[in-house]
Amino acid sequence: MIFFIDSANLDEIKKAEDLGFIKGVTTNPSLIAKESVSGKNSILDHYQKICKLVSGEISAEVISTKFKDIVKEGHQLAEIDKKIVVKIPIVGDGLKAISYFSKKKIKTNCTLVFSATQALLAAKSGATYVSLFMGRIDDWNKQPCSSVEIISDIKTILQNYHYSTKILAASIRSHKHIIECAKIGTDVVTASFTLLNSLIKHPLTDSGLKKFIDDYKITKS
Ligand code: G3P
Repeated sequence: MIFFIDSANLDEIKKAEDLGFIKGVTTNPSLIAKESVSGKNSILDHYQKICKLVSGEISAEVISTKFKDIVKEGHQLAEIDKKIVVKIPIVGDGLKAISYFSKKKIKTNCTLVFSATQALLAAKSGATYVSLFMGRIDDWNKQPCSSVEIISDIKTILQNYHYSTKILAASIRSHKHIIECAKIGTDVVTASFTLLNSLIKHPLTDSGLKKFIDDYKITKS
């Protein structure tokens, strides 16, 4: 299972790259806005800065929802760097655009996916990634089943028909989400820097390390 960082913050992205186990970046318009980046040129420039920081793929999201506009915006994003994956929301014209980019061999990430049926349509359209928003599903009390059940269904469906679309678990809230994803065989998990960094930590590691260092000091003296 591959880890991506879900952030548009340059410091966090640099720190994530330095850790070594985080292999790519996902962004969205809300994360971009959080960095006070606004205006088309500044946004494209920000993506360029991210591309310079990381060796892996960077998902950059379109704002357009109409086919022609998505195609135009997607091309502008894809032209920034080979590492860019064009992130497109699952609307009718979005699926059409995913299909278009798939034929052009431009990678896509189909986003705002909340059901196995939406994921199936993304795969049928040739999406490189399908982003299932786990936290938002579990926060939404109208959902008939959990995000873990949905991601497990998506895994089965994509395997049944040998789709190459990769499952990207997003909107991750906890270690439990990550463990469940790993058990299911999810291809990618994207999460905040804080959550990813917390995976390294355990109180018994801290106390064990302190004891080893203290004992070493005794043997030295
Ligand atoms: O990037 C998509 C997703 O990770 C958003 O997460 O926390 O806003 O639900 P969140």
